[in-house]
Amino acid sequence: MVRSLRLWNFRGVEKGEVRLAPFTIILGGNNSGKTTILEALFLAPNPFRRAPYSGVDVAVKILQETHRVFENTGYFFLFHNYTSSEARIKCDSHVISFLRDDETIYVTTNKSDAGECLMLKGKPANVLGKLSFTLTNIVSMYVNDKVTKEDSLLLSPSLTRMSYDYVRINWPLLAHSNVCSRIAEELSRLPGGKCVDITMEPFFKGGVSINLLLEEEKRIRLSDAGTGVQNYVIARILYELKKPEILLWDDVDNGLDPATLLSVARWFSSLVEKGTQVIVTTRSPEAARRIAEAAGGRPTILLSILKEGKLETRRLLETELDDGILEAEKPSKSLRAA
Ligand SMILES: Nc1ncnc2c1ncn2[C@@H]1O[C@H](COP(=O)(O)OP(=O)(O)OP(=O)(O)O)[C@@H](O)[C@H]1O
Ligand SMILES: [Mg+2]
Repeated sequence: MVRSLRLWNFRGVEKGEVRLAPFTIILGGNNSGKTTILEALFLAPNPFRRAPYSGVDVAVKILQETHRVFENTGYFFLFHNYTSSEARIKCDSHVISFLRDDETIYVTTNKSDAGECLMLKGKPANVLGKLSFTLTNIVSMYVNDKVTKEDSLLLSPSLTRMSYDYVRINWPLLAHSNVCSRIAEELSRLPGGKCVDITMEPFFKGGVSINLLLEEEKRIRLSDAGTGVQNYVIARILYELKKPEILLWDDVDNGLDPATLLSVARWFSSLVEKGTQVIVTTRSPEAARRIAEAAGGRPTILLSILKEGKLETRRLLETELDDGILEAEKPSKSLRAA
């Protein structure tokens, strides 16, 4: 479990610290640092490890893909104001640094047995791998793609879509377990009826589709279900395939109807009970309150505040969760690169 996350010059955060609990809901308005926090926690176990998304499957490349604007932005986005010379993520005592040296970014760790020892800027450093600073999508090389800290799984509406092929390819691992029927059972009632199973079946032109099997042999393709249901089903399947120690879900309430949000909150509770750390973000005080209520008041709710590059969090009581709470904190006047 990660109890303390500290950031220096990482994305929108020049400096900041977040104290995390076994179950944390991070609430904040736009530009309050929520995604930055989850991305740091996602990279921390090793930016070069494989993650369950298709086409692009190296963790840091996945983030590059989600931040890609037009044709090319390289890995500038990792550095505060796109110009810092070093970005650092510290989870408890574990440190990952991104060090710029001309056209190259060296990714280093403080674990002496995890990387390759090189001299960087006159000092020895344990290098996990290198990224090209300017070229699109290039992971120049890595020496270690193993997890060096508890593994984390990042979920978000855009990553859900990037996970479909991964789920399809790995379907045989699920087919012989009762995972799908269990997920179906815990889904709230859908407009077409109660879901009894999740299947993968042949579809048009030799393709396959993931289907929600409803009562009376009716079925609906997962990609035609509401976005909230899609996000939830894919989240549960990815969790079963990866069994991460830390589950990160950005904009958790996106597209979720209240009944599905309730199923999601109950699922989080059961994960936390089994020892998985759960950290989710939302812009909605109402969603935070609903999740906290459904989870029996277990989660710690943090208000995320980003001002002039400084990230802070303030612990909130459930009684403080009304719309006014976000009004009190002005959004960051973040500095953007020219
Ligand atoms: N590399 C960077 N340098 C400087 N500022 C950045 C960088 N990357 C992101 N930012 C800024 O950091 C701030 C926080 O971004 P972040 O995506 O974490 O916010 P958020 O709380 O997730 O917002 P939203 O609710 O809109 O998703 C934003 O103002 C963003 O423009
Ligand atoms: Mg965000």
